[in-house]
Amino acid sequence: MNTKEFGKQGWTPERLGDLSGKTYIITGANAGAGFEATKILLNKGAEVVMLNRNEKKSNKAIDDLKELFGVNAKVSFIKMDLAVLSSVHHAAEELIKTVPKIDALICNAAVAQVAKQEFTPNGFESQLGINHYGHFLLVNLLFDKVEQTGGRIVVVASEGYKMGLKTIQFEDMNFDKNYHPNNTYCHSKLAQMMFTYELQDRIKEANKDVKVYVCHPGASKTSLINKNTPLMTRIMWSILSNSPLVQSAEKGAYPEIMCATEDNLKQKAYYGPTGRSNWVGPVGECELESHALDKPVAEKLWTLSEKETDCKWNF
Ligand SMILES: NC(=O)c1ccc[n+]([C@@H]2O[C@H](COP(=O)([O-])OP(=O)(O)OC[C@H]3O[C@@H](n4cnc5c(N)ncnc54)[C@H](OP(=O)(O)O)[C@@H]3O)[C@@H](O)[C@H]2O)c1
Repeated sequence: MNTKEFGKQGWTPERLGDLSGKTYIITGANAGAGFEATKILLNKGAEVVMLNRNEKKSNKAIDDLKELFGVNAKVSFIKMDLAVLSSVHHAAEELIKTVPKIDALICNAAVAQVAKQEFTPNGFESQLGINHYGHFLLVNLLFDKVEQTGGRIVVVASEGYKMGLKTIQFEDMNFDKNYHPNNTYCHSKLAQMMFTYELQDRIKEANKDVKVYVCHPGASKTSLINKNTPLMTRIMWSILSNSPLVQSAEKGAYPEIMCATEDNLKQKAYYGPTGRSNWVGPVGECELESHALDKPVAEKLWTLSEKETDCKWNF
């Protein structure tokens, strides 16, 4: 579909019909764009299962959502820390047991701009470990359920894929020699995108009926820049996020909702705000830079990710 069909205002939730009977799984939905996405989906009658790491924040989010949409709002959470591979396994097992269908799995959670090199309990640099490896494993574990539903997978990426190294640093995946809060974040988001486009190819080859989409939220006023990010980044962000260069967290949720619900979007595409620097503006298709589609790098990353997460894809 050519997203120009959405008109001058781009994609907005006004295009959504009744979503009763649909089930959406969102990672990192207690805050930011994931929380706003949950609101939009609940408002249309869908069921949302949030996969969050923090129990207290999740219960508060559910209370807030039930206050908005009533006690019968179909929202729940399963505890999952993407930094811990065993936690991803447990959450996926519980989800498979308790949730009959997945219309879309939205890989939204992330950490960003982590000030100093940190490691997940599995020994990965934290941004790569959480943003890429955690989701790589989760998508693998839930794939069959998505396929059984005729559902889709949405990966929330970042304009940051155009910054930093613009490739995967196989010789030093943990950035032991050149750790940099932004470059290392951008590396993790590029890894997520390369995984997604490679997954599209493998799904096609295996003749499976699952669509996979990549989007980004532009620059949105969320809690992504927080106490774990360098002081200068926080200062700059607090100035920027109160300017027209940055949009609301709600608008930041539009691309992921569009990718989770809209028919006939393209594969090998990249969706998000199309206005100034792709930070704000009408949601539609954005230009995709070719380094994200570098096939040999994507294949190598896939093999490495299978090894590191100890999960084999069966196609
Ligand atoms: N905001 C922007 O301008 C911007 C720009 C480009 C891309 N993005 C992307 O947009 C997506 C949404 O981010 P956001 O801006 O809405 O940020 P956010 O407000 O910080 O929300 C991120 C969510 O991810 C969760 N999360 C973090 N680490 C996790 C882990 N180990 N396991 C499970 N959940 C975890 C957070 O949980 P806690 O509350 O427990 O921390 C939170 O719920 C991310 O993929 C981000 O890379 C955002």
